[in-house]
Amino acid sequence: MITNNLEKAAEVLNENEVIALPTETVYGLAGNAFQPEAIKKIFELKKRPLFNPLIVHLHSASQLEEVATDIPEKAWLLAKKFWPGPLTLVLKKKNIIPDLVTAGKDTVAVRIPNHPMALELLKKLPFPLVAPSANPFGSISPTSAKHVWNYFNDKVKIILDGGNCDMGLESTIIGFEGNAPTLYRYGTISVEEIENTIGKLSFIIHSNEKPQAPGMLSRHYAPTTETVMSENLQESIRQFQNKKIGVLVFKNKQDHHHILAQEILSPNGNLSEAARNLYAALHRLDQLKLEVIIVEKFPDDGLGKTINDRLNRAVKK
Ligand code: TXA
Ligand code: MG
Repeated sequence: MITNNLEKAAEVLNENEVIALPTETVYGLAGNAFQPEAIKKIFELKKRPLFNPLIVHLHSASQLEEVATDIPEKAWLLAKKFWPGPLTLVLKKKNIIPDLVTAGKDTVAVRIPNHPMALELLKKLPFPLVAPSANPFGSISPTSAKHVWNYFNDKVKIILDGGNCDMGLESTIIGFEGNAPTLYRYGTISVEEIENTIGKLSFIIHSNEKPQAPGMLSRHYAPTTETVMSENLQESIRQFQNKKIGVLVFKNKQDHHHILAQEILSPNGNLSEAARNLYAALHRLDQLKLEVIIVEKFPDDGLGKTINDRLNRAVKK
């Protein structure tokens, strides 16, 4: 059921059931972070491999020391600057967090979402919520209650409707290897913004076998339709002209009679607007039974880097 009844959502969560909730980034599938029974249901619904750990969502930085310990100074700086907001910190975990949440790692990922409905719900509950994106593992993340419904319908009892997500891309994930701040996942907050606050970041090497953050798995965020990335749209359109083509572009409309559907993410060339529209546009294109989706490569800095990161994973086989 799609609803905005927070009391009902709290009741269901207290019974160790799973709900879907809006955040400013994407919708999440949420459950009690302290209850393995609830957490297991999330993994099953998403068909998510157990090696892929979850993010714990809090409503206040004062809760941080309940779940994490040995918090580096730079983590506090980031928390002060970006919370509530689309930043996830990976910190040394406390025992109260079940191993199922962290895939047996000794670290836990935490964030405070910046969405009024999520914050209000978290304040009502005597426990934090784990909330991975509310999509089956590997598919396009949801940015509206309807997207979640299309994936799970009645398998998720309560889908809280908080409108379309303001940001539209997942949180940026920062960990601390030794003491060096390290980027685990590109996200809504750009590398530049993070580095302006705490100095240079290290970057983890992407690997398919042992990913640090499986959001870094090479194929992820993927439509079911074949998807290719292009730096020369007119040439790619010619190349696929015998197929049913959809295109997804940053700002410039493509004129070509072979195009059956086109999504322009931001006609004014605004990256935040493009980010906000990206997943909804991919969902729409993916429902049209096209034979190929051609996506335009974005300018490779700031939020453009995050968008390219997601598009790259959407196109990989
Ligand atoms: O914006 C977001 O972060 C959304 C909303 C719902 O909050 N959530 C989200 O969750 O994107 P999920 O589960 O789709 O992605 C969580 C990412 C995964 O790539 C996971 O590997 C990484 O966080 N992660 C979780 N715990 C970690 C840990 N201890 N060390 C490294 N990476 C971790
Ligand atoms: Mg996800």
